[in-house]
Amino acid sequence: MGKYTEEIKRRRTFAIISHPDAGKTTLTEKFLLYGGAINQAGVVKGKKNARAATSDWMEIEKQRGISVTSSVMQFQYDGFCINILDTPGHQDFSEDTYRTLMAADSAVMVIDAAKGVEPQTRKLFKVCAMRDIPIFTFINKMDREARDPFELCEELENELGIATCPINWPIGCGKEFKGVYDLREHKIIHFTSNTNARAATATEVALDDPLLAELIGEDKRDQLVEEAELLEGAGAEFDMDAVRHGKLSPVFFGSALTNFGVEPFLESFLQMTTAPLPRMAGDTLVDSFDDDFSGFVFKIQANMNKAHRDRIAFMRVCSGRFDAEKEVYLVQQNRKVKLSRPQQLMAAEREIIEEAYAGDIIGVFDPGMFSIGDTICAPGKKFCFDPIPTFAPEHFCRVRPKDTLKRKQFIKGAEQIAQEGAIQIFKIPYAGMEEVIVGVVGTLQFDVFEYRLKNEYNVDLVMERLPYEYLRWIESYDGDPEDIIKGNDVKMVEDYKGNKLLLFGAQWSINWVLDKNKDKGLKLSEFGGARF
Ligand code: G4P
Repeated sequence: MGKYTEEIKRRRTFAIISHPDAGKTTLTEKFLLYGGAINQAGVVKGKKNARAATSDWMEIEKQRGISVTSSVMQFQYDGFCINILDTPGHQDFSEDTYRTLMAADSAVMVIDAAKGVEPQTRKLFKVCAMRDIPIFTFINKMDREARDPFELCEELENELGIATCPINWPIGCGKEFKGVYDLREHKIIHFTSNTNARAATATEVALDDPLLAELIGEDKRDQLVEEAELLEGAGAEFDMDAVRHGKLSPVFFGSALTNFGVEPFLESFLQMTTAPLPRMAGDTLVDSFDDDFSGFVFKIQANMNKAHRDRIAFMRVCSGRFDAEKEVYLVQQNRKVKLSRPQQLMAAEREIIEEAYAGDIIGVFDPGMFSIGDTICAPGKKFCFDPIPTFAPEHFCRVRPKDTLKRKQFIKGAEQIAQEGAIQIFKIPYAGMEEVIVGVVGTLQFDVFEYRLKNEYNVDLVMERLPYEYLRWIESYDGDPEDIIKGNDVKMVEDYKGNKLLLFGAQWSINWVLDKNKDKGLKLSEFGGARF
């Protein structure tokens, strides 16, 4: 047994994914409430105009009223040490959001029961599925009018391509929501609305208890008995191995706002999900329970204060124990350093830490030495974790400096911001660097890019939106990529390493190009290899 097994075993590191407004913040808040990390609802997110929230922890972001951070929160619950990785929604959506998922061992997917699978859920799910991490579904807002639960499960299966296995089953919805039937314990948890208490009050009765008809009415009882039989006959078998490999998603129904079903969900989830998972470094599998420390950088947060070009690098501890007093080895730079000011987020506060264990996320002061994907390990070790993929941007701009004499600063600034991973830059083949194409996952990044070039590099920009929405890496093609048959609406660009990529305006256009070039074995990918 390793020296730190006890500490590592109790860690759970997961991301919460959803489309905006499905209830991710509300659910996170209830988790923190149960863990005692906060003591009243509304701390993570206040009412409408006080949306500041724990996520917007960088002071400068608060001043600017935007959040470009995916935040991390740690709290304790029932002996577990839980790290939640938040994935921002709406306009803050960025490539960082995808990269954050690389640091998680599992994901909780929150679905609005009235809306089902929505676009952002689909995008985030795809990235989780690529890594085969376990995905748990919480179908939220059952206290409102909801879609038929069978239909919702079917949609998850058809749209996302993952099998589902309901763990509990809702009885009615909206005003008629009576609770859930626990399909494994064979008991009903009766719903009573309770917005502010620590846990919802629940009455438990068995399916064959005569009291049941009194609680939920005879019609609902009969319907439930029928549905329970149907589920037992037709539903996917609960297979823990399939859950662990991301092939089967356990589904829970509840209502985060009224606290219903949240604590049972958290408890089941913690039991079903895994302790920190091992990671590949080339041919080596690095065991999280190994005594030696290792980690990788998955996100770099720039300091918006132009007087300080320093940044914060976010690192996922992958194995062993991180000790702030000890030197670590930066593999890509081949140097030993002591990391300065390591810090962690505990609900609303940031604090300097002395130690962290596999599964934890820490932020370290970065004077410009880290790149996304860098490996940090105990001196004496020399492996590199597999690179973080590059995700396809969805918005593109042609960009050049207003003043042509500022070309040098423009290139320097654009390259530096691209290195932090906030944007991706592409060249037009055979053209100079007078102008570049900037690609982003969320449009807010255009504003950040413009703001930073002006404030940090003193360059005003001319930006022109381009009508492309899809970028694809060329995975294989028999011949010179220049010869790929493409319509007028497809543009070829080049990345830093000279790789050729294709820009498309529509999905059908991708299919058209694939079809026209199938004899030459054209394969396109939504994910690029290592960034640098
Ligand atoms: P998000 O982080 O996924 O974007 O969603 P968030 O938790 O902010 O929730 C979005 C809205 O949905 C909020 O209402 C929230 O109160 C509501 N909500 C969340 N869970 C439930 C639920 O289980 N039942 C019901 N009925 N509503 C739920 P809002 O009006 O936009 O904000 P607020 O005024 O409540 O702050």
